[in-house]
Amino acid sequence: MSKWEEKELSEFFSQYNDILEIKYGFTTICDFIKQHNSIKKVLDLGCGSGALTPFLAPIVPQMIGADISKYAIELAREIHKDSGVIFTYPTELHHYTNDIPFDTVISAFVLCTLKTEDSVRAIFRQVNSHVIKHGYYMTLDFNLDAIGIDFGPFKTGEAGKTYRDGNTLLTTLWTKTGKPFSFHDTYWSLEKRIACAEEAGFSLYQKLIPHVPNFKPPFIISVFKKEEEL
Ligand SMILES: C[S@@+](CC[C@H](N)C(=O)[O-])C[C@H]1O[C@@H](n2cnc3c(N)ncnc32)[C@H](O)[C@@H]1O
Repeated sequence: MSKWEEKELSEFFSQYNDILEIKYGFTTICDFIKQHNSIKKVLDLGCGSGALTPFLAPIVPQMIGADISKYAIELAREIHKDSGVIFTYPTELHHYTNDIPFDTVISAFVLCTLKTEDSVRAIFRQVNSHVIKHGYYMTLDFNLDAIGIDFGPFKTGEAGKTYRDGNTLLTTLWTKTGKPFSFHDTYWSLEKRIACAEEAGFSLYQKLIPHVPNFKPPFIISVFKKEEEL
């Protein structure tokens, strides 16, 4: 069981001050969706307590959030009970899709929580089984070129330190009430993500880098496209 499945961390994360994620990460994802009329059915894989829900639910006709954490799913169901979004476990997804796959899957801050290369490979394979051919897998994560920068609500890793695939990154987040909490993420270079994606039938389609005036962007969104069934 990963740390993210624990109750305390799920609750902390639901109180996190996600102002930067909204401004630069979630908005960039929404802009991409608005520019692609074919996107109608979206899976938020690793939805946590549903931070993306208020932004995606109004612009996509059908959306499901899935997470392996019981606490995250319970919180998401409670917080977003009027959103029309279904929150469930990945193993239960077949009950809700009527065998019609998603055209887009989104994972926000999920790859960085995976501890092993096998688990990175496994999530791409999992997504391949849920998404249509030529559908998208959008992954939002920290900008690896901005490691160690104190962005205010969060800081990931130490400036000047060299990280390699699989290395631990100490991340600190601050809640809306100013309470800090720290945990370990894992460094996966873009090259490694692309290699895992390609093994699972995807190609890198676009890198969406939000523009932040006078600053390095805190996040990057890699959009993968499914080229083949496994
Ligand atoms: C850092 S949280 C991010 C939550 C949410 N996406 C957000 O941006 O607020 C990572 C979440 O991914 C979930 N997770 C990790 N591996 C997963 C997998 N293979 N399938 C579904 N959820 C997963 C964890 O349980 C956790 O809730």
